[in-house]
Amino acid sequence: MGHGFGGWRWAEKSGGALSAGERWAETCRGLWSLGGARAQRVLRAMGLGPKDFRILLEEVPRPRTPLVQVAEARLLQLPSHLIGHSERTYAFGAMLGARDGLNFDPERLLLGALLHDLGLARTDGASCFAWRGAQEAAELLRGAGGNEALIGSVSEAITLHLNAAPSGPVEAQLLRRGAGLDVVADEFYVLAAASRREVVAKWPRGDFAKVVSADLRGEATRHPETRVGFLCHQLGFTRLIHRADRMFLRDQEVEA
Ligand SMILES: [Fe+2]
Repeated sequence: MGHGFGGWRWAEKSGGALSAGERWAETCRGLWSLGGARAQRVLRAMGLGPKDFRILLEEVPRPRTPLVQVAEARLLQLPSHLIGHSERTYAFGAMLGARDGLNFDPERLLLGALLHDLGLARTDGASCFAWRGAQEAAELLRGAGGNEALIGSVSEAITLHLNAAPSGPVEAQLLRRGAGLDVVADEFYVLAAASRREVVAKWPRGDFAKVVSADLRGEATRHPETRVGFLCHQLGFTRLIHRADRMFLRDQEVEA
């Protein structure tokens, strides 16, 4: 393990707190990502840009391994807004991976997605909720007989998923990209509207934006030194979440 900023080793060393230099670098990466998303919207409004990618849910691999079953059972104990979000995160991440022709391990991506917000459902433990969740995920998978390479990969992807930009191995990048699409509509137009709608129809968003914003604001207030504190206080994260929600709502309206 150990993929630099935001990874497990970084969390162990820093306790999840960003240094001044890391805040600066994350601000640049966050603004770059916001600028890219804005450029995508402008190009789309002008009828330019690459063709969106249409993929059906049935084309997305869904491994049915014993570890996945353990993760699914744990996920079902979480609040409903996190269940739907975790499932959508996998679907979107796997769809983006297929779109880019990436060679990824669906089981690792699925385990990471199903377990990536375990830390958001509890307030005890480490101050960084991604690391808190990664620790629980590692324990859960170890208890279920997972091998150390898989456990390391999944828990690293979970700790990395709060970075402003995707990083680490391909499954970690797709976890971050899938969550980014569901939470703040990163790469929204990369997938075809029909693909987005199929995912949201299977796992409806409901009051996800409102409830997860409250969760994240709570984390940011309790732990302002962490990445979620930075995202909420410096990058207006909850405002971006509500804007993304309106984009998904428009998808449903267009269909109706
Ligand atoms: Fe999430």
